[in-house]
Amino acid sequence: MSPQVLTFDPKLQGSLPSDFTWGYATAAAQIEGAWEEDGRGPSIWDTFSCLPGKIRDGSTPSDACNGYHLWKEDIARMKEYGARAYRFSLSWSRIIPLGGEADPINEAGVQFYSNLIDELIRKEITPWVTLYHWDLPQALYERYGGMLDKERYTADFLRYARLCFERFGDRVKHWITYNEPGLTARAGYAQGRNAPGHASDTEPWIVGHTQLVSHGYVCELYKGDFQPNQKGCIMITLDGNWYEPWDEKDPRDVEAAERAKEFEIGWFADPVYGMDGECDYPASMRAQLGDRLPHFTEEEKRVVQGSSEVYGMNSYTAFYARHLQGAPSRSDYRGNVEFLNENCNGKPRGPETDTHWLRMAPWGWAKLIRWIWARYGVPICITENGTTVQGEHEGPAPAAPGEIVEDPFRAEFFRAYLAEMAKAYQEGVVIKSYFAWSFLDNWEWALGYTSRFGVTWVDYASPQKTRYAKRSAFALREYFDFFIAQ
Ligand code: NOJ
Repeated sequence: MSPQVLTFDPKLQGSLPSDFTWGYATAAAQIEGAWEEDGRGPSIWDTFSCLPGKIRDGSTPSDACNGYHLWKEDIARMKEYGARAYRFSLSWSRIIPLGGEADPINEAGVQFYSNLIDELIRKEITPWVTLYHWDLPQALYERYGGMLDKERYTADFLRYARLCFERFGDRVKHWITYNEPGLTARAGYAQGRNAPGHASDTEPWIVGHTQLVSHGYVCELYKGDFQPNQKGCIMITLDGNWYEPWDEKDPRDVEAAERAKEFEIGWFADPVYGMDGECDYPASMRAQLGDRLPHFTEEEKRVVQGSSEVYGMNSYTAFYARHLQGAPSRSDYRGNVEFLNENCNGKPRGPETDTHWLRMAPWGWAKLIRWIWARYGVPICITENGTTVQGEHEGPAPAAPGEIVEDPFRAEFFRAYLAEMAKAYQEGVVIKSYFAWSFLDNWEWALGYTSRFGVTWVDYASPQKTRYAKRSAFALREYFDFFIAQ
């Protein structure tokens, strides 16, 4: 055993069940590249990345990690890393280039994913498929504003989902409708830093509602027309970090920390998991946003409530939350709360990484897992967790073929977070999966190629996007060997 494994509490050995799912997650736009190959249509991120000043390093995802060509080698590598499952997303515009319900299907795109799925199954890696990981077909945005038009968008999303269930559902048993709908709405329609780059005080709430309702209809479709034969499951994955009161003795900060979680997580989770038997947005959101927050019709409540039987959890970090004085501004989307790096006693939230919002904070993750379990009481599937490493991006690229990149900080991050997850499991929190973000260094949206989240180093300067394993890939495998009952 490595020195790191020896630091685990021996009582945690074998604490996770033998069928526990673990593996790696990626997203199409971040790894595939080949954005114009074999009939693929553009997505809003392709267009957005070409606008000046939108992406930190001025890059586009045109070639990304060359995953469209290296998928077979990548799966072999994943096997070598010991992964039991792989969570990836489908590029909607690779499958239906114009996106719409009456638009033609790109059979080459369907074939690409079909081959990928077959190869995963051949290697005994279970595919988990996300239908929507932020890359709306550009044509739908141009046609009717994408998610701003709930009716037209939902019809198009339903047809895309149906096609995916028809073509892949014989082999795919784990479906995720949306990845981080909150981020799509906040970053894309309030902050304007993600595609399509709007800064509005009404649109985020409309876009959030469209995702919830269309998620509900897709779940209904799956459960009615496919699940009886295909016997898979369907869920949604939410983003959410932990918010700790800046001053735990100040009730206003205690409330602010709770409100921050409701604005981030409760926004989607309360309607889906039916708080108090109701399908509605948190009261704190209604109080601040009034009728800018849409109302669920009876029909929408029926499809949204209980649509997802498990909680898909993406989480990375924790912040200190301090109440803001005075009435919230109209453009506020966080619950009138300020997020800080230190609490009132100067205690930092955790060691820094290469990414401004991300600090290593396993203490917050431990609290968040319990908060979700206490509030919603449904099994938790961890669908993303991971880190960048300070200085890794500027650090020297590996020189020799097969060289292993040393990343002790990332290994420590996984060690600390997994230990907290295993403890929560031992206490009775039902946790079904853990997917590390990410298998490869990849295109981190508006941060371009500057934030390396992978357990595999990608040499972006090389024509092939050559990969090198990082040490943390082997550490993660060792940790799961320790935690999972043999
Ligand atoms: C959330 C997103 O799902 C993923 O696309 C992103 O790269 C990671 N978190 C890291 O920011």
